[in-house]
Amino acid sequence: MTDYPAIRSLATSSVRGTQAVAAALARLSRAGDLLVLCGDLGAGKTAFTQGFGRALGVTTPITSPTFTLANRYEGAELIVHHLDVYRLSHIDEVRDLGLHELVDDRSVTLIEWGDVIVGALPGGYLEVRLTLCDGPDDRILELRTVGVDWSDREVALLDLEPREPGVS
Ligand SMILES: Nc1ncnc2c1ncn2[C@@H]1O[C@H](COP(=O)(O)OP(=O)(O)OP(=O)(O)O)[C@@H](O)[C@H]1O
Ligand SMILES: [Mg+2]
Repeated sequence: MTDYPAIRSLATSSVRGTQAVAAALARLSRAGDLLVLCGDLGAGKTAFTQGFGRALGVTTPITSPTFTLANRYEGAELIVHHLDVYRLSHIDEVRDLGLHELVDDRSVTLIEWGDVIVGALPGGYLEVRLTLCDGPDDRILELRTVGVDWSDREVALLDLEPREPGVS
């Protein structure tokens, strides 16, 4: 995990709230982007990806890749790669994922626990750190840009206004 201050910190109190943040970030995303999802076990990394994928037009159910390691979904314009590297114990297994090939100009890639393999990541990324809070449904989502790939969108990240569906 990176240890400098977050560019943005957002509190949510429901899955829908977290997915609204994810949808807002999906609208900022572009081909070739990488997002690293990290933080507490069970904080909502997979729930975040579900909201992110739906906003990009993925209609099939997005499920946890804990055992499959990598799932691929067709969005309206982009492919969404969803990986979970929690169970990887050896650098060879990380290499087998073929990250450099996945992160291409037709797709957006989200990696749960990607902070444990930062040295193997192909480029810059947006880190989304999810933390459990006092209430059972309360979460903090912290955003950090690493490298140049997201740095030109820092103003947009500061201005991010997630809207939950049905809330005007
Ligand atoms: N504000 C919230 N944001 C996200 N998830 C929430 C929130 N409140 C409650 N939840 C619940 O927390 C759980 C999050 O599970 P999820 O599988 O998305 O976490 P995860 O971070 O991917 O877990 P793991 O570390 O095992 O991969 C879900 O059961 C979800 O309904
Ligand atoms: Mg998960």
